[in-house]
Amino acid sequence: MTETNMTIPPFLTRPSERYKDDFIEAVYEYIQENLGLSWNPKILNERFDEYLKTLRAAETEPLAGDVPTSYYWLIVDGQSYAGDLELRHHLTDSLKRFGGHIGYKIRPTMRRQGYGKLICQLGILEARRKGITDILITCDDDNIGSQKIIEANGGIFKDKVNNRRGVLTRRYWIYYN
Ligand SMILES: CC(C)(COP(=O)(O)OP(=O)(O)OC[C@H]1O[C@@H](n2cnc3c(N)ncnc32)[C@H](O)[C@@H]1OP(=O)(O)O)[C@@H](O)C(=O)NCCC(=O)NCCS
Repeated sequence: MTETNMTIPPFLTRPSERYKDDFIEAVYEYIQENLGLSWNPKILNERFDEYLKTLRAAETEPLAGDVPTSYYWLIVDGQSYAGDLELRHHLTDSLKRFGGHIGYKIRPTMRRQGYGKLICQLGILEARRKGITDILITCDDDNIGSQKIIEANGGIFKDKVNNRRGVLTRRYWIYYN
């Protein structure tokens, strides 16, 4: 890492070939905790272009039952993939119960350094840029890290709902004003 890179503040970017190797390494980390993609990492490596296209298409041509969704990666030190965020442009009845507008994850080896709070903060800004004013974020009742992240970003606890997943889902709203 160069000295210049260390001065670049973390930023969100659209998924890009530029961070491919780092991203694939992170996928192996996610697999260890069952957060892997539907894409096998070997296939991902061979057909990364196609993977990026599917992410882009989710914004304008979502699959049946999905809402338009934008994907972002958090990049730190100007070069390292640290986590990702998905932004759903509107809510369905199902997303109102589970999922909300924003979902995020930080790669296991980069947790507990404040990147979870940061990716959520940057995601909220992206949502507002897209005209989403009141933002719903949900998390599992036992996900203490995510609760802290949402609350640190102004989330107002609404309720807990039973989605028959073995753990209740907490719903938080982040209001525009
Ligand atoms: C939840 C997650 C995003 C947290 O990322 P992170 O980068 O570790 O978060 P931060 O470093 O910003 O930590 C935020 C706060 O949560 C706390 N925290 C983080 N992980 C925690 C854990 N496993 N248990 C208890 N507290 C935790 C941090 O100590 C920090 O507390 P503080 O505000 O008192 O300082 C990350 O663990 C993850 O990707 N998990 C899997 C996917 C997931 O659960 N996504 C959220 C879906 S709603």
